[in-house]
Amino acid sequence: MLWPALRSVLFQLDPERVHHLAHWALRRVPTALARARRPAPIPALAVRCMGLDFDGPMGLAAGFDKGDVALPGLFALGFSHVEIGTITPRPQPGNDRPRLFRLPEHRALLNRMGFNNEGMEACARRLAALPPGARLGPVGINVGKNKATPNEDAASDYLACIEWLHPYADYLVVNISSPNTPGLRQLQERDALDRLLRACVRHLAERAPGKPLLVKLAPDLSPEALDEAVDVAIAAGAAGIVATNTTLSRAGVERHPRAPEAGGLSGAPLERLATEVVRRCYARAAGRVPIVGVGGVMDAEGAYAKIRAGATLVQAYTGLIYGGPGFVGRVNAGLARLLERDGFSTLSDAVGADHRQGGGKAAG
Ligand SMILES: Cc1cc2nc3c(=O)[nH]c(=O)nc-3n(C[C@H](O)[C@H](O)[C@H](O)COP(=O)(O)O)c2cc1C
Repeated sequence: MLWPALRSVLFQLDPERVHHLAHWALRRVPTALARARRPAPIPALAVRCMGLDFDGPMGLAAGFDKGDVALPGLFALGFSHVEIGTITPRPQPGNDRPRLFRLPEHRALLNRMGFNNEGMEACARRLAALPPGARLGPVGINVGKNKATPNEDAASDYLACIEWLHPYADYLVVNISSPNTPGLRQLQERDALDRLLRACVRHLAERAPGKPLLVKLAPDLSPEALDEAVDVAIAAGAAGIVATNTTLSRAGVERHPRAPEAGGLSGAPLERLATEVVRRCYARAAGRVPIVGVGGVMDAEGAYAKIRAGATLVQAYTGLIYGGPGFVGRVNAGLARLLERDGFSTLSDAVGADHRQGGGKAAG
């Protein structure tokens, strides 16, 4: 009950300032406190995939921790895994402010941050300096290209990030789906994607055989383009698909005064679109790689919908902003109840359940 009151105060302030304040506080959480405060894992929710063990499905999506590294604090919130990034080779300031907006009536955010980050070397230094035990679960690192790098040279940016950051990552994500770096999404097209992913997979395999490399896709691809991207990604050796990034669509928020702002929409209005993308990726991947479901997960029902549609892991960002520090604990408790209600003894049994029950929900 404390959170709604605190949230109404915080929501009076500039969103990016609140973000920095929250991150500052989270960076100060010592590992011992994080261990003590972390909600106890629920055994039925444990997930093993890509050779990694997760004590639940819920991870923090990329973009909250852009390399400042607040790992113990973020794990203390109950996340099973944390995805850091997007990190680019060179530091860059991102777009001009304001670049992050709340749409509280819709439980949504709109952002055009533009990969503001201090670059791969600073991120690597911080990760290297973490005290032992600060990683309370798998840590993913999401990598991108600098704004100034033309798409023809994009691969060298991704490879540089992989080179610097792979020692600190349990998995890596190639982000080609942010709407806020001009031209980035063109890297999702077949030939560009094939070249980029093959280069990244090879580079990582030579340095850290077996370490998973995933690709993060946009929710705005046509169904055919999505199928093609999944096929190309798997053929190139990607270990999983992260679906999805923010959307350029304004469906459901058309009349909001912030709707005309440039950027990607996240939160509740993205939920159904992202779930349908997960559904289609799962059908297309046909068990060859896991799907990480992201987009508008605001509660346990939303996480469960992603899982039933085919997500092995689930991530959230906007749900944390609206749900507060108790968000992950509530989602996990609710997920355990939903699994029991539907007669699943483990979470893995529920992954893709919609596809096995007919009823026209499975993607064609
Ligand atoms: C402020 C903000 C910054 C983000 N930055 C990144 C980023 O740097 N890299 C990335 O892959 N996704 C980024 N995302 C997208 C999220 O990881 C996620 O895919 C998207 O917000 C949908 O999930 P949600 O509805 O739970 O927020 C960002 C999202 C927000 C709201």
